[in-house]
Amino acid sequence: MFRVDTLKGRVAFITGGGGGIGLEIASCYARLGASVAIAGRNEERLQSGLERLRADGGDAIALRADVRNYEELKAAIDAAVAKFGGLDILVNNAAGNFHCPTAELSPNGWRTVVDIDLNGTFYGCHAAYGHLRRSRFGGSIISIITMLGLSGWPGAAHAAAAKAGILSLSRTLAVEWGGDNIRVNTISPGPIGDTEGVKRLYVDTGREDLERRKTALGRFGKKQDIANAAVFLASDLAGYVTGENMIVDGGRWLKYVAA
Ligand code: HXC
Repeated sequence: MFRVDTLKGRVAFITGGGGGIGLEIASCYARLGASVAIAGRNEERLQSGLERLRADGGDAIALRADVRNYEELKAAIDAAVAKFGGLDILVNNAAGNFHCPTAELSPNGWRTVVDIDLNGTFYGCHAAYGHLRRSRFGGSIISIITMLGLSGWPGAAHAAAAKAGILSLSRTLAVEWGGDNIRVNTISPGPIGDTEGVKRLYVDTGREDLERRKTALGRFGKKQDIANAAVFLASDLAGYVTGENMIVDGGRWLKYVAA
């Protein structure tokens, strides 16, 4: 585990922070000393996330924002800065996805997922930039993607293309904003067992064993595995790491290639 002061004094803004991996990251950040703003579309989910953070003793707020709306997201980021006095960490975690063969995918279905994942990430980075460049720790942007964005993702072309776009955007920004002392990285989770996504896609459909066997480690990951990577990348421990894609997938992408 990390030292309890690993993120002391920092402020983090996490999209899609009301549940799942986003809330796990928020909870770890808060327990390691950060002030945390979670943002999302669903007020109920946000409030229950906020309760969990505060029950853990975290300094946290919840802000309603749809990442597809630049003005709304910018207003939420500005509100977090007004509340906590600055911004040091942005986590672009909000995502939308559904299974659909590409020939049956409507233009609006495509647009909706690209809007949430890729455009929402751009909006977050753009709206946060002015604050992050003033961070006394150096700014850190972390975006959640997947290696399926690079391999292609049959049945999820929209999400795969959007995630690949986020990787490209992150590497561009790592160079453009390196001079502002902002580090820009991505995390590629594999199948994370204690999430709604894996439950719906793999457990409920009877594909659990198959998907487990696709990983080199032969097991699903935990939300905590992703949160650990997100703590490392946000902290001084990763002070010289930028433009990196940290793969936390139990060796799934290698086994895909080797099998
Ligand atoms: C085909 C679909 C569809 C489906 C929606 N659409 N679901 N098409 N199959 N199952 C189409 C609609 O018909 C519509 O197109 C367009 O997409 C927009 O749909 P709306 O319902 O109006 O959009 P909205 O209410 O904004 O909802 C966005 C959403 C929804 C992405 C569609 O699923 C959502 O809110 N998801 C958020 C949660 C989520 O997806 N989490 C997963 C992320 S985790 P038309 O043409 O009819 O207008 C993840 C990791 C998975 O991605 C990892 C697994 C290993």
